[in-house]
Amino acid sequence: MTDLGKKVIYQIYPKSFYDSNGDGIGDLQGIIQKIDYIKKLNVDMIWFNPFFVSPQNDNGYDIADYYNIDPRFGTMADFEELVKKLKEIHVGVMLDMVLNHCSTENIWFKKALAGDEKYRKFFYLRQGKEGKLPNNWQSKFGGPAWSKFGDTDDYYLHLYDPTQADLDWHNPEVRQELFKVVNFWRSKGVHGFRFDVINVTGKAEKLVDSTDPVEEKKLYTDTPVVHKYLKELNTATFGKDPESITVGEMSSTTIANSIEYSKPSEHELSMVFTFHHLKVDYQDGEKWSKIPFDFMKLKELFTEWQEKMDQGGGWNALFWNNHDQPWALTRFGDTGKYREKSAEMLATATHLMRGTPYIYMGEEIGMIDPDYSSMDDYVDIEAKNAFKALTKKGLSDQEAFGIVKSKARDNSRVPMHWNNEKYAGFSEYKPWLMPTDQARINVQDELAHGEIFDYYQKLIKLRKSEKLISDGHIKMFLKDDPQIFAYERYLEDSDEKLLVFTNFYSKEHTAKVPEKYQDKDFQVLLSNYDAVNGKLADEITLAPYEAWAIKIK
Ligand code: GLC
Repeated sequence: MTDLGKKVIYQIYPKSFYDSNGDGIGDLQGIIQKIDYIKKLNVDMIWFNPFFVSPQNDNGYDIADYYNIDPRFGTMADFEELVKKLKEIHVGVMLDMVLNHCSTENIWFKKALAGDEKYRKFFYLRQGKEGKLPNNWQSKFGGPAWSKFGDTDDYYLHLYDPTQADLDWHNPEVRQELFKVVNFWRSKGVHGFRFDVINVTGKAEKLVDSTDPVEEKKLYTDTPVVHKYLKELNTATFGKDPESITVGEMSSTTIANSIEYSKPSEHELSMVFTFHHLKVDYQDGEKWSKIPFDFMKLKELFTEWQEKMDQGGGWNALFWNNHDQPWALTRFGDTGKYREKSAEMLATATHLMRGTPYIYMGEEIGMIDPDYSSMDDYVDIEAKNAFKALTKKGLSDQEAFGIVKSKARDNSRVPMHWNNEKYAGFSEYKPWLMPTDQARINVQDELAHGEIFDYYQKLIKLRKSEKLISDGHIKMFLKDDPQIFAYERYLEDSDEKLLVFTNFYSKEHTAKVPEKYQDKDFQVLLSNYDAVNGKLADEITLAPYEAWAIKIK
């Protein structure tokens, strides 16, 4: 894809964007009605979370029919209208392809259940061992990764919910069927694809017991055959489309694999989503824990991933938020006095790095985690399972709730705050998930007198005009500074450099400017405080959550 470095992608969670028909659930016509808002941001493509036919046990990541729109969200005609209207404003569509597993409501699974041999081979069906499950793998949503296959003696594998049956990618017929799905949507004018948990499609040939959770993941993650499957996918579908943009969601991956997944000469994908930087507030690697984030670790991870992906020719998706994460602003920023400054600082830190930025709907107005008061306010199966598991481990209800509240995926799935009304202007009817902070944070107020949206517009514009941002290499500096995250972007054929400084805390902070930059004249490209051009001294002082991007020669 040409000019990948200039693109910015916006993510819409259709269920929560805008409800046009008053049923409390967002829909495709709702998105169409908000196109003018989307246009203001000047993004290049929108990634839509799945809106295919689904029983919604995992909010659409359990697909029952890959070829149709779920009636909750609209019709095929609505989808075609959406693609057309977005095209008119030069915005492409990126669809979420959930190809590792399908819903147990899918016709393939139903045929398999009915005993059809062809479809039995679509899934991982195994006999139990001496009255036990086929192996000891655990589902990522809690509990065993195997469930009984109808009234047969078999069990089927599901790395996620029991209603999400893993498809056996080793079977060439399965791959053909899945490639057909991708081509169907390509024929509807779609050029962007996000491939859900695509690096777990190459399970080990022998589904043996694991010795521990870390080793267990290795039995089904990033196995060499995944690269072969992605090359096949590329050739069979989007490979020759010059407009294609693809991203793989890579669960617990490595840099070496990510380079291979995203390096153009490998003909796999355009880029990868990786999650190491979003685990810096996990205690001993455990998501369901509550500790302050480790800033030094965050810097280390950004440094390693950015520099090595650059050296290896790979390409990163840059993001803080998505539908699986609590809001970054709540985790890494300030939700009170410095909400705007910290939102801008966080955006600067990722947007000016090397890769393609993704903005999750609501991020551009500084949305934060909802203030729920009971488990009844949550909908997500993962949150409910986690609460049960934590209390079973001996935590009090209150302790378990505190942890769930800080990590639940529902945090970011909350309806978009359009205005300060009871249902945040999202719907006339009680939404499927309730908003709580719309009085303080909403689109209407933000556009009238906020500064975050405006700042995002500037960041997006800069990426399109500054070659240092779209094409430059990256090198981190001030690596030991306890408050500042800083990096340099440079091009091989130019003396110009972009320097980015971000203060991750609410305290003003002074740092020594590396000698090679001292005395250089600088031009301010962007800052969330008033900043003027000048000459770099031997020290710089950053205000609370200040972000500062300057160009030097
Ligand atoms: C991905 C999706 C997540 C989903 C899971 C299983 O991680 O982003 O929402 O639950 O895959 O499909």
